[in-house]
Amino acid sequence: MTAPAPLMSLVWTDHVTGRQGFLVVDRLVRGVASGGLRMRPGCMLEEVAGLARGMTMKEALHYDPEARYVPLGGAKGGIDCDPQDPAAYGLLVRYLRAMRPYIERFWTTGEDLGLSQDLVDRAAAEAGLVSSIQAVYPLLDDEAAARRRLADAFAVEVDGIGLDELVGGCGVAESVLAALDRAGVPYPGTRVAVQGLGTMGGATARFLSRAGLTVVAVADIKGTIANPAGLDVEALLAARDGYGTVDRRVLGPGDRELTGDAWLSADVEVLVPAAVSYAIDTTNHDRIRARWIVEAANMPVLPEAEELLAGRGVTVLPDVVVNSGTNAWWWWTLFGDIGADAEEAFGYIRGRMRALIGLVLARADADGTTPRAAAHALVTDRLPVIADRFGWYR
Ligand SMILES: NC(=O)c1ccc[n+]([C@@H]2O[C@H](COP(=O)([O-])OP(=O)(O)OC[C@H]3O[C@@H](n4cnc5c(N)ncnc54)[C@H](O)[C@@H]3O)[C@@H](O)[C@H]2O)c1
Repeated sequence: MTAPAPLMSLVWTDHVTGRQGFLVVDRLVRGVASGGLRMRPGCMLEEVAGLARGMTMKEALHYDPEARYVPLGGAKGGIDCDPQDPAAYGLLVRYLRAMRPYIERFWTTGEDLGLSQDLVDRAAAEAGLVSSIQAVYPLLDDEAAARRRLADAFAVEVDGIGLDELVGGCGVAESVLAALDRAGVPYPGTRVAVQGLGTMGGATARFLSRAGLTVVAVADIKGTIANPAGLDVEALLAARDGYGTVDRRVLGPGDRELTGDAWLSADVEVLVPAAVSYAIDTTNHDRIRARWIVEAANMPVLPEAEELLAGRGVTVLPDVVVNSGTNAWWWWTLFGDIGADAEEAFGYIRGRMRALIGLVLARADADGTTPRAAAHALVTDRLPVIADRFGWYR
């Protein structure tokens, strides 16, 4: 699909630090666009535009004419700063204040790389916003009940982790399991390496290890932790700080500390990049030994690298499908397709992700393309259907 120019893109410069922030609205549907906010040093407008386009695709892929939730458009925000910088929180508040008219009217946002939802909520309140998703409230039938349902869902915890931080990884893990099932590969003995042990990587590691796979390597900002016999995923999850950095004091006797990029060449069947964009490129793709790369992160595999990987039989399950569970869960909950219950949420996500992966892989087989090209083809089919029902700009 050739990407049309976004509806709106803007660059904001902080008057205190001189740092930049970005907002890209790829398109509006029913007058609203959905997409998280990331903070990382080096964040660029081009990256945010790609992410916003991805959000349009995720919204379209989950279109179900029978559901209460019907899609929004896609958007994304980004701030060029290290989230652990002492100036980061003040910058976040000023960015949200500057973006306040957009958030009040048409951009619903939430956590992404570098930011937790708690932090976004706190900064949004300080910036004078009712909520980071208030633009969607006019679309709700019963706003009070919907907001209560979402707040209740955010209060649910499962074994020490909030439901909101588990749903995305549940969807990623289910995508892996669906691909393994399709290929007839049993879960026990299947090895996994994950880059990033924050919201997405942490939950993916939990669900895959609970399904019987062996997580042999995880990386965070400090480096890779590996154990060919399998890591104690729950111990590592419990030892994370608010940024997804693992306290190394909990490492077991067989665990080894390796370099930051060692996760990439781990001897595994499944590789899950769940941290930064652009992690796999033409300079490092040949070190990958996995059969599947499952994009929990947004845009971790560059197109030229994907082509080379496809050429040697490595399948990339694309971000727009695999990590779409978090965004969809917010809306399924808010619009009332599901309640504030972990088992109901996991069951719904599993069903929907399996159906979506099945559709994408079948389309890829039929068209003789990659799963990413197949997902894009599905989006190309669906966008006009959505536009016919809701109008292009209403
Ligand atoms: N949080 C969400 O709701 C959500 C939803 C869909 C997709 N995503 C995508 O998933 C990815 C991760 O987001 P998140 O919210 O889990 O982030 P996070 O901030 O919760 O965690 C990021 C993790 O990656 C690690 N990390 C950061 N830079 C690294 C590097 N250079 N090398 C190795 N590890 C590194 C951090 O230490 C941390 O463990 C992003 O690409 C994001 O866009 C997030």
